[in-house]
Amino acid sequence: MSVIEVRGRRPLKGELIVQGSKNAVLPMMAASVLNKGITVIDNVPGIQDVFCMMGILDSLGCCCALHKHRLQIDASGLCGASISRCDMEAMRSSILLLGPLLGRLGEAAVYEPGGCMIGKRPIDLHLMALKRLGAAVEEGGEGKPLTARAGRLSGAMVEFPYPSVGATENAICAAVAASGRTVLTGCAREPEIEELCRFLTAMGASIRGAGSRVITIEGGLALHDCHYRAGGDRIVAGTYLLAAAGTGGEIVLTGAGARELCPVLCVLKRLGGFLYEEEGLLFFKSQGRPAALTAVTGPHPGFPTDLQSVLMAVLSVADGESAVRETVFESRFATVGELVKLGADIALSGDTARIRGLGCLKGASVEAKDLRGGAALAVAGLLADGATRISGCGHIMRGYEDICRDLACLGASIAWR
Ligand code: EPZ
Repeated sequence: MSVIEVRGRRPLKGELIVQGSKNAVLPMMAASVLNKGITVIDNVPGIQDVFCMMGILDSLGCCCALHKHRLQIDASGLCGASISRCDMEAMRSSILLLGPLLGRLGEAAVYEPGGCMIGKRPIDLHLMALKRLGAAVEEGGEGKPLTARAGRLSGAMVEFPYPSVGATENAICAAVAASGRTVLTGCAREPEIEELCRFLTAMGASIRGAGSRVITIEGGLALHDCHYRAGGDRIVAGTYLLAAAGTGGEIVLTGAGARELCPVLCVLKRLGGFLYEEEGLLFFKSQGRPAALTAVTGPHPGFPTDLQSVLMAVLSVADGESAVRETVFESRFATVGELVKLGADIALSGDTARIRGLGCLKGASVEAKDLRGGAALAVAGLLADGATRISGCGHIMRGYEDICRDLACLGASIAWR
């Protein structure tokens, strides 16, 4: 099931419940090792990255079980602090275990994490924060793991020069286990950071300021079992809303909060859509062919880099010339070549893509190069005349529970082959 076939040129129409958020659930899973007991998370999506994180937790002595989107993690038996190179390279989020393992066991040994090839993805900010909290870090290299040790972490002032999502998450988890007060400044403000803090608070931690640049943690409190429900995935929701804008559709989403989606909703309005939220439902109705626009990705509340390629797919059929500038990752334009195979008129210059909108795209065979780029190709297929075949869909399955099921539920002609 790694090829998707799409037949385009039908407006999306219908209602859909959005899956739980990958980028909220993965850090929560990592943070669950801070509790020497049982953590239950509801609304967990059945995606490859979640299965992969479950495998890593099991290899460390935890016991994970996922049933009907309810994930139970028993971390009472946690005994290992070393993650194999193969597990680390399976995804980027493996690095999110560094802070929690250090906090719980006083040591951790890891390799460079893997993940989508979207540019250099160093971990210097993660390490800087952990060192400020008292960890002694020995960088690996030459097949050796990086090791971090701390008898007991202690609260400190940590200033991030750039609001890295993962580094902020690692620092929060380590600070929860550290003794005393930690003040993190220059933090990432993504909704997933707020969600991690709500989760840790449900576990007994004391955290103030989540969602702002400054987060204060009173560390060292006793943690306890908790039961938490993860929110909907704003990137998955954004993918389907943009697809509706591109196809001239009309959709209703449940489980996607307008607040978290604010930067995406602003762009949808500029594309030419009517939007409103009522009692947990998000309504979107396109007002015709999308309008051309200029967009710049940025840390939250900027336009999410994770939707940059999906937006480009939609702008390929917009009325006029658009420009999209990528400022978060240095090489996140790998999907442009595939969109061009579908007839898109896109020219790249440095960090900016210029897109001349056409009446429609043409179906062709293309290959998913990364997770969000793969989703963008599915959206582009909806905007193309004829059939589009997408290979390399293992990437898409890392983050979308079943993109074919979801889009078919909204009336698209799309299936796994
Ligand atoms: C998270 O990645 C998300 N992943 C990404 O989503 C998302 O694209 C990204 O945040 C930005 O929003 C998860 O939440 C699991 P960063 P993360 O650290 O934490 C530089 C998806 O498709 N940086 O905020 O890895 C880095 O090179 C994925 O779901 C450093 O320089 O992102 C990049 O240019 C892809 N040093 C920028 O910061 C560091 O130590 C943003 O990275 C860390 C990061």
